[in-house]
Amino acid sequence: MRLILVGPPGAGKGTQAVHLAQHYSIPHISTGDIFRANLKEGTPLGLQAKGYMDKGELVPDSVTNAMVKDRLTHADTANGFLLDGFPRNVAQAEVLRAVLAEKKTPIDAALELSIENAEIIKRLSSRRTCRGCGKVFPGQLDKCDSCGGELYQRDDDKEEVIARRLEVYAEQTAPIIAFYRTEGLLITIPAVGEVSEITGSAIRALSQKLS
Ligand code: AP5
Repeated sequence: MRLILVGPPGAGKGTQAVHLAQHYSIPHISTGDIFRANLKEGTPLGLQAKGYMDKGELVPDSVTNAMVKDRLTHADTANGFLLDGFPRNVAQAEVLRAVLAEKKTPIDAALELSIENAEIIKRLSSRRTCRGCGKVFPGQLDKCDSCGGELYQRDDDKEEVIARRLEVYAEQTAPIIAFYRTEGLLITIPAVGEVSEITGSAIRALSQKLS
């Protein structure tokens, strides 16, 4: 299964990606997580990305495309992958299509998580992320229930940055929905309700699409 998750910030892409990657036994590749891991390590890539992420802007395509192209050469992607947060504009979608066409391994589906802005703002302003393992939580817990790590609020989950991320999504990322619809790859599901119910409807929609 070669799957793309599309949806605005806070739609639950990362949350669903964990369950879907486990279900299909494929690696979960989140460009946001890769940037944050690089930042934690203090690499030049992380420091370069931080300036954009903190403002809610996209990291330049030249940097992001090279990073994803490299990740897709790793052996664990041979039987598929789940991309979370990439592509994020039509130019990235075109690069991905070209890279996969060369390998004769096209995308199977682009799964859009649909959600209203009011719910997004509620989710992102209360989200906490584990410093240790990166797991996300919907509320203000004391520590991570998986690794015991400290929980923190992402710098880009501040109110003014959330507003800019939503604008960037509408202006630059939403057009990829039409792109994948035209390609005949788009599936849209509502992203509100219990996490397990959303995972279930994603799996049902995917098996219907791919049957
Ligand atoms: P990235 O890390 O990809 O952020 P995002 O797309 O803005 O998505 P989020 O991580 O905020 O949300 P999510 O949809 O994963 O939701 P989550 O599951 O956490 O990107 C960050 C930045 O990196 C970008 O702004 C950009 O600068 C840069 N970047 C990344 N990719 C790039 C690219 N391709 N090109 C250029 N730049 C790039 O859920 C949110 C909250 O809701 C959590 O608290 C969760 O517990 C809760 N929740 C989840 N599901 C439910 C539910 N069903 N009910 C109630 N609560 C729920």
